[in-house]
Amino acid sequence: MAKTHLLPLLLLLLLKPLPNVYGVGINYGTLGNNLPSPKKVAQLLQSTLIDKVKIYDSNPDILQAFSNTGIDLIVAVENSHVANVSSDVSAADEWLASRVVPFIPATSVVAICIGNEYLTTDDDKLEPNALVQAMQNMHSALVSRGLDRKMKVTTPHSMAVLASSFPPSASTFALNLMPTMTAIAGFLADTGAPFMVNAYPYFAYRANPSTVSLEYALLGNDTHGVHDPKGYSYTNMLDAQIDAIRSAINALGFGNRRIEITVSESGWPSKGGSGDTAATPQNAKTYNSRLIERAQSYKGTPMKPKDKVEIFVFALFNENKKEGDASERNFGIFNGDGSKVYDVDLSCQFCSNGGTVGFSEKVSGGYRGPSVWCVAKPHADEKVLQAVLDFCCGPGGVDCREVYESGDCFQPDKLIAHASYAMNAYYQMHGRNYWNCDFKGTGLVTFGDPSYGRCRYPQQ
Ligand SMILES: *[C@@H]1O[C@H](CO)[C@@H](O)[C@H](O)[C@H]1NC(C)=O
Ligand SMILES: *[C@@H]1O[C@H](CO)[C@@H](O)[C@H](O)[C@H]1NC(C)=O
Repeated sequence: MAKTHLLPLLLLLLLKPLPNVYGVGINYGTLGNNLPSPKKVAQLLQSTLIDKVKIYDSNPDILQAFSNTGIDLIVAVENSHVANVSSDVSAADEWLASRVVPFIPATSVVAICIGNEYLTTDDDKLEPNALVQAMQNMHSALVSRGLDRKMKVTTPHSMAVLASSFPPSASTFALNLMPTMTAIAGFLADTGAPFMVNAYPYFAYRANPSTVSLEYALLGNDTHGVHDPKGYSYTNMLDAQIDAIRSAINALGFGNRRIEITVSESGWPSKGGSGDTAATPQNAKTYNSRLIERAQSYKGTPMKPKDKVEIFVFALFNENKKEGDASERNFGIFNGDGSKVYDVDLSCQFCSNGGTVGFSEKVSGGYRGPSVWCVAKPHADEKVLQAVLDFCCGPGGVDCREVYESGDCFQPDKLIAHASYAMNAYYQMHGRNYWNCDFKGTGLVTFGDPSYGRCRYPQQ
């Protein structure tokens, strides 16, 4: 009795396409004179678990390089251009038409950030009202082009928008920013865009190394952490920072509206100025490894344990031309030459490279985990499957001879069988990232070898 019930359950578990693995975002800043070309960067990232890349402008070379990579891009209107976009909808549309439209849909642009830390940047020329108006104009321009579902408009804030962040449940925005933050929160709730915050436990720790626990700052599990008067218990500072933002949004009266919080930047430098004992390769490795693990899990914060928080690691590269103290130039996971600053695992369960990602390293082979294949879902839409088959055997570069008439996989002569063969070959070729088996929702990762008779499904 028990056995007959167990079998279907087991199959179901084995066939389920990884319920708990999510991609990770990364910030790709380019203030360096020794960085690889965008094309090389796109190639590197394709073999990792990074599936979202955030940039600080709308560099056409980057937008071009990420076309057809399956990686989502978040682009930005620079602070200096926000006033222009705020002038009217046609200015926003002009930006969109010249900066983004030429690259879509081949490049998947999913969000436009209006400025970066606009409200807390020391520059009298930046007018707070221009920010909100620019966001609204960009959204209107997207609506009129029918692109507003695909692309969200938002703006990343620094933690300095808060008047206080402690305790987390009592946080509020700075008094002078309340009207602007109210307008922004309303806009985000209405358009379904996330509230973005750049959150750095590193800076808080560096300022108070004797009072802040390193384990708490390093995204650890500090059981002595912080006990909020409302009953929440914080074991790491990043959670406390996210909930401080959440409380401040709620205090504006948006407690019953859904506004997702995204950590648009977080990271830890591997090197700092003299006397900076926090910025070490070991601490950077610990923080960023935990951050990446956290980003992949479906995990919220003590206040909202079920609300997954999307995270963008800062940053991809050390940027040698960045201003400020030494730490600013040393937040990267990679050096300009593409070597890793310290070892951090960017592979995913279905990646083939087992963490040996780097520009000079071979990105295939070396994977010793369980065998995995990609097949078509049993009831996948035939039209989509045909398109997938055509894509894989054409631009996708798969050798499809086995499914042609004299091939070993021609029988059964069914679209779903042929598509499965092609999808698997494509998936194996592209490093077995789980998104390489998506195919508009028609693909399924499986641990069972789909090979039969003389038809062999390739494995890396
Ligand atoms: C906005 O920028 C565009 C393109 O750079 C320029 O043609 C236009 O005159 C600017 N508009 C305003 C109001 O500054
Ligand atoms: C943190 O530590 C506590 C006490 O040792 C333990 O019960 C809990 O499971 C740990 N949490 C995580 C996420 O490791």
